[in-house]
Amino acid sequence: DRGGFKHFMLKEIHEQPRAIADTLEGRISEGRVLPAAFGVTAEARFADVARIQIVACGTSYHAGMVARYWFEDILGLPTSVEVSSEFHYRNPVVSRDTLLVMLSQSGETADTLAALRMVRSRHPDVPVLAICNAPESSLVRESDLVLMTHAGPEISVASTKAFSTQLVSLALLLLAMGRVQGTLSEEIERRIVAGLEKIPALAQAALTHDSAILALAERLVDKQHALFLGRGVMFPIALEGALKLKEISYIHAEGYPAGELKHGPLALIDENMPVITIAPQNDLLEKLKSNMAEVAARGAELFVFADERTALASEERLHVLPVTSHVGRISAPIIFNIPLQLLAYHVAVLKGTDVDQPRNLAKSVTVE
Ligand code: M6R
Repeated sequence: DRGGFKHFMLKEIHEQPRAIADTLEGRISEGRVLPAAFGVTAEARFADVARIQIVACGTSYHAGMVARYWFEDILGLPTSVEVSSEFHYRNPVVSRDTLLVMLSQSGETADTLAALRMVRSRHPDVPVLAICNAPESSLVRESDLVLMTHAGPEISVASTKAFSTQLVSLALLLLAMGRVQGTLSEEIERRIVAGLEKIPALAQAALTHDSAILALAERLVDKQHALFLGRGVMFPIALEGALKLKEISYIHAEGYPAGELKHGPLALIDENMPVITIAPQNDLLEKLKSNMAEVAARGAELFVFADERTALASEERLHVLPVTSHVGRISAPIIFNIPLQLLAYHVAVLKGTDVDQPRNLAKSVTVE
């Protein structure tokens, strides 16, 4: 049931405020996360963790990339993230003090399960945490610890609310880990919790920019290529924005860390290459602005997803869309991703593709 929406994808995009609230529900009490939300043995297992290894595919992998910025920046906890198909076909070093975190909406992704089983057979002592949306899945059954994302069923092949709720779950993991290990002051913990509780309302507000995003989509629909740029925690959001666009509209899209421009992709830039940037008002904005000047000087049309404080104004071929009010370190990637989902959606609808069932793709990739 599409609930009055034209596509499941649009319905699921709009379900995000509720899905995020549901994922937080019951996991926080009196401003503090409950480590037992991860399972009764979580507290004991988290105590000895010295590093985190995240393994996932596709959109779930992008959520893991965001988490790496958070864990290292806020907790100082060494964190690696790798796509499952690479991880399980090499000989990764997994030390006993690692927490293996498997991210998967479906819990049935073949490569992710293979990676889990590989670690299990070689390193039976390493604890495995599944962050998953499907309670009956193989991944959940085979893991030691589980945190369910409460996104509800995701039907559209393009993953949207699963990503947002994975990020919220990873933020809960950060809080639990920081609490158990004593690496997070009570004040910062309370501040992060307060920030998490504001996300459903911020997500709701981000959805109100739909008609402005449709206007941008109209400018993209005839393009062959698009380049998404971000820095810091917005780099994985650039990758995710590009994945969403290519997956459902079939426009060739790439995500790049903005600082890599001069190392290759700048050669692609001309008036036919639209550039989409994710530009919150943070300490990386000045750097990003000089990257935007570089592409603008070569004729690219720029689409800037900004926040209301971002000091930038629209010009002829520079479209600045403020999509949110003040956002924090944790909420920013979750919120900025939502307009990119809508952008991909509108481009696909304008092109007339099969939005919920893009060609060649399956919802759950159960074979390698
Ligand atoms: O079920 P999973 O989270 O393990 O799926 C991983 C990817 O197959 C999935 O995120 C895929 O990239 C989506 N179609 C992206 O929208």
